[in-house]
Amino acid sequence: MKKKGVSLSDSIVNWIEYRLPIFGFIKHSANYRVPKNLNYAWNFGSMAGIALLMQIVTGLFLAMQYTPHVKMAFDSVENIMRNVNYGWLIRYTHAVGASMFFAAIYIHIGRGLYYGSYKSPRELVWFFGIFIFVATMATAFMGYVLPWGQMSYWGANVITNLFSAVPFIGDDIVIWLWGGFSVDNPTLNRFFALHFLLPFVILGLVIIHVIALHVHGSNNPTGVEIKSKKDSIPFHPYYTVKDFFGFGIFFIIYFYFVFFKPNLLGHPDNYIDANPLVTPAHIVPEWYFLPFYAILRSIPDKLAGVVAMFSAILILFVLPWLDSCKVKSANYRPLFRIFTCIFFINFIVLGYLGGEVAEEPYITFSQISTIWYFTHFLIILPLLSKFEKTKTLPNSISESQIK
Ligand code: HEM
Repeated sequence: MKKKGVSLSDSIVNWIEYRLPIFGFIKHSANYRVPKNLNYAWNFGSMAGIALLMQIVTGLFLAMQYTPHVKMAFDSVENIMRNVNYGWLIRYTHAVGASMFFAAIYIHIGRGLYYGSYKSPRELVWFFGIFIFVATMATAFMGYVLPWGQMSYWGANVITNLFSAVPFIGDDIVIWLWGGFSVDNPTLNRFFALHFLLPFVILGLVIIHVIALHVHGSNNPTGVEIKSKKDSIPFHPYYTVKDFFGFGIFFIIYFYFVFFKPNLLGHPDNYIDANPLVTPAHIVPEWYFLPFYAILRSIPDKLAGVVAMFSAILILFVLPWLDSCKVKSANYRPLFRIFTCIFFINFIVLGYLGGEVAEEPYITFSQISTIWYFTHFLIILPLLSKFEKTKTLPNSISESQIK
């Protein structure tokens, strides 16, 4: 029975709220307090989130027309491009979306590295971020295999073969991964199944990532925690508006690529049907894998190369202990700031080298860059944590804003 003076919509809301407090949760989230000094570097988490949703939605529609069979996969993708209504738009939005997703994630990680967001008490936020990163890489790799073009096929061969470097059981692992004795139909089928599943696993990881973040709240450009209400503002409307502004810019760039340069970030060889008898002259992964690919190739020994490549990611797990300086933000650490910028440049150089052919002088440069990558984490950061003279921190976020 509707109570007197209570509108119908209110009574529906109350009915639901009593059984599932979803509106209270939304209200609580909107009132969640956030440091008042977050800059645009803090937009990239929500951007990665919207990119993930775009991938899930467009991927679902692609899956309705795609056929995971070696004899039909390539043609089914061409069919999507030519015959399915707006199929080209859905496919390009998905393909470009992968690049946009990685761009957002890389900037998001870079922000964390610069402002020391991986430090106490946000280590678990950081760890779940790394899990997300690894899962995203696996998803993107398997997705790239699905169109079954030349790069799909040979990329799948190169990457799965890396596991053969594992001592004793390497070859068995590779056969197990393939589901046979070569990259073939069972491989394509399982990659499709996993490529469909993993984004939902990533979504679950993102939810844990954000829950962990909300325990202690966001870090901020000063690296000084919130001390009083004066240091913070409610998430809504301030950061909802700012996030939506970010989405606007993000989608302008995104759809510029979709409509005007949809194949710029891909490889033309992937428009050639997979052919196990013809190896492409130059097998390259997508741009977002290139820095790690450069590390892999810089070492002549296969096993050592594989170990170095995985270590380059796994080292992020010990970062909170390698950099034990109590001051978080690079803005108050002059030397750390310089070295972090050098690290970023070195990472971009690695990406460039990963796209070049594996010959001199690129091999030597890749080796130097790889050594620098690990030196930064294993030597520079521990030394800086001990000896760097940091600037005086403001007493509070509010104080940092009084010029
Ligand atoms: C699907 C991918 C990801 C999504 C959707 C996501 C989402 C978010 C969101 C919404 C925030 C809060 C807003 C912000 O601080 O930007 C955040 C914070 C954070 N994320 Fe992520 N994230 C992702 C991947 C990663 C990765 C790969 C890492 C690191 C390896 C990472 C590390 C962090 C850290 C340390 C924070 C706290 C930042 C701070 O308070 O300063 N995230 N993430």
